[in-house]
Amino acid sequence: MSNTPRITSEEDQILLDKESRYCSFGDTVHYIEPPRIFSRCEGSYVYDTNDQAYLDLQMWYSAVNFGYANPRLNNALKQQIDTLPQIASQYLHKGKIELSEMIAVDAKKKFGMDGRVHFNVGGSQSIEDSLKVVRNASNGKSLMFAFEGGYHGRTLGASSITSSYRYRRRYGHFGERAQFIPFPYHFRGPKGMSKEEYGSYCVKQFARLFETEYNGVWDPKVGQCEYAAFYVEPIQGTGGYVIPPMNFYSELKQVLDQHGILMVVDEIQMGFYRTGKLWSIEHFDVKPDVLVFGKALTNGLNPLGGIWAREELINPGIFPPGSTHSTFASNPLGTAVGLEMFKMTSEVDYGAMVMAKGKYFLAGLEDLKKRYKIVGDVDGLGLALRMEICGEDGFTPDKAKLDEMVEEGMKGDIEIDGRRLGLILDVGGYYKNVITLAPSLEISYPEIDLAIALLDRLLHRVTQK
Ligand SMILES: Cc1ncc(COP(=O)(O)O)c(C=O)c1O
Repeated sequence: MSNTPRITSEEDQILLDKESRYCSFGDTVHYIEPPRIFSRCEGSYVYDTNDQAYLDLQMWYSAVNFGYANPRLNNALKQQIDTLPQIASQYLHKGKIELSEMIAVDAKKKFGMDGRVHFNVGGSQSIEDSLKVVRNASNGKSLMFAFEGGYHGRTLGASSITSSYRYRRRYGHFGERAQFIPFPYHFRGPKGMSKEEYGSYCVKQFARLFETEYNGVWDPKVGQCEYAAFYVEPIQGTGGYVIPPMNFYSELKQVLDQHGILMVVDEIQMGFYRTGKLWSIEHFDVKPDVLVFGKALTNGLNPLGGIWAREELINPGIFPPGSTHSTFASNPLGTAVGLEMFKMTSEVDYGAMVMAKGKYFLAGLEDLKKRYKIVGDVDGLGLALRMEICGEDGFTPDKAKLDEMVEEGMKGDIEIDGRRLGLILDVGGYYKNVITLAPSLEISYPEIDLAIALLDRLLHRVTQK
């Protein structure tokens, strides 16, 4: 382990003292002590107040897919500031209309369905809107299915369909919590089944709920389910970048369609080419009823999120003016960046680029898995990659070891090719032992090599005590 002392400058210490006095800690987890304070960012790097560079492999939980301070997207924002930076959401502006068109036309092409787009501020708020659309369209049915390990945000409605009780514990219930269904997490599933067999097994277990009225959710006499929708993250994000088998969602959707249950696809973390497609559900040959997005729509420059829903669920007859509202929804700064992001990604084959970089990155992770027993599992789809840190048996989750790696990375003292660097890692997974890797989609091949070399150093440090 490195013994580099953590130096906090006088200026940083003054700020930290003020933070402890004036800032709520409700939204702050100091993963390391003392916490770093950052002053600038560019490409795949963030820089602390000492101008120490850290290679970022989590990119603001996948909000900054196109690199920090992406010049083209930053310029779109600057231009909008100089033209129409503000306008009340009751008035129209070109950006809102054109961005909605862009998303709806693309969805029609991919899913063969007409639909409409509704914007809001951030992921959780867009999840709230999706809950309103779903509940409204199913005559007020308020019960939802969601997955164990799923994460849909921290507003009250979103927390109720997010699996962790920890996020609800302090607040009581403001509505019914979802019924959580097991996700095909193959690495930790029962032994002796292939990934695909396990996917089918999970669907069959879910389908059991509809066998008779006594399984608790289905009235066969009227052919109605008590539940309105099933919320899914195609690849679980906070749950540890768990990639289900490719047959899973089409088999699940059949069961949902047979029982009149909508599928709401949460693309907030995996959307916008993270997995090599605009929407990660495109890998699975399934047509969603509602799709929710956020984060990288604006490359993290503006908290714009939203939903696309099938015409039948969201047309003005069923979801009329005034059904919901937020002052900052469809704000022109956000829609301008979103539009530019769509233009930018239509000019280059982002899908092919991300898949190729992802394959290269995953090969590096696989090599580390061969060399370190504590790397239990690695996997990836596009540039959504995972590395599971375990005990020497390569299976027992070892959160403490991963925490050490995160801490070592944040020291910013790894010497590579004459450069001193830090490494920013995100922790996820059911046992909080998974490095969930979401590098910039613009990351270069030499930077991927560097990322693997830095991970190698961290693994070396924490295994050589
Ligand atoms: C899959 C998923 N859904 C919803 C959310 C909530 O989005 P926000 O944090 O913007 O409210 C997140 C955030 O991490 C997410 O990953």
